[in-house]
Amino acid sequence: MKPLIEKAVFPIAGLGSRFLPATKASAKEMLPVVDKPLIQYAVEEAYAAGIRQMIFVTGRTKRSVEDHFDTAYELESELEAAGKHELLQVARSIAPDDMTCVYVRQPRALGLGHAVLCAKELVGPNPFAVLLADDLMVGPAGGGGIMQQMVSQYAQWRASVLAVQDVPREHTQRYGIVSGKDVADGVVDVSGIVEKPKPENAPSTLAVAGRYILTPGIFAELEHLPRGTGGEIQLTDAIAQLLRREKVFAYRYTGTRYDCGSKLGFLQATVDLGETHAQVGREFAQWLAGRAS
Ligand code: G1P
Repeated sequence: MKPLIEKAVFPIAGLGSRFLPATKASAKEMLPVVDKPLIQYAVEEAYAAGIRQMIFVTGRTKRSVEDHFDTAYELESELEAAGKHELLQVARSIAPDDMTCVYVRQPRALGLGHAVLCAKELVGPNPFAVLLADDLMVGPAGGGGIMQQMVSQYAQWRASVLAVQDVPREHTQRYGIVSGKDVADGVVDVSGIVEKPKPENAPSTLAVAGRYILTPGIFAELEHLPRGTGGEIQLTDAIAQLLRREKVFAYRYTGTRYDCGSKLGFLQATVDLGETHAQVGREFAQWLAGRAS
């Protein structure tokens, strides 16, 4: 049976200026949390949700992402010759045989909405996922990843689904904020969405995390959207327009989001994922505990 959602879009053309100097000549999506680049966490989350076609919207300095998901013949044959089978498996598992990766350029940094619009031809006529690799999302132990939870919601509502979480009111200016009414456990029928409102203007404290399932109707909205501040085309504004024609649901996901677009969030992810890492977790946790005392 074909999966409900077959394609995922990863907008990765952003400059990553918050991580300078590390990101001057290399992709912020390749920054590793413990031993895996941010983009791989997002791709694995999509793959776990049944998605097999990964569409990367790239820009300059992002070639390393293409290389990462490509076969590395020299590396593989050296590991094979050296009998390093476990590492060989690690290298091969980055791009499973049934996964395809395609790349399209976002020629100018005109915002997240514009990045998604760049993928229009590759996405085609079906609903699709969008994952922002800056947001590292970890599902509950033993449970499904966040995108998998969202695909289940899509199966039920057959409409666009936005991942949301409650945030402190003083943080509303960092997010798209939704309003609406609860229609099921953890599910909100969205009536409005605004990008980065001031705390005093925010319609709620329900913030969009970087995971979306969108119907292809979003492309028509993106195409007709006037440019917002800084000449940018905001995905949030297109979703607000889509609401006039289609239902959109917000889903309070179960799990943890690390804002790896910020240094603090990145460090928090590193510590949390370090502590549970199969290879170094125990020793690292002991070391941390020793430092705290
Ligand atoms: C983007 C979206 C915003 C969303 C956020 C989640 O903002 O525009 O609506 O809440 O991602 O991380 P950015 O963080 O790229 O400024």
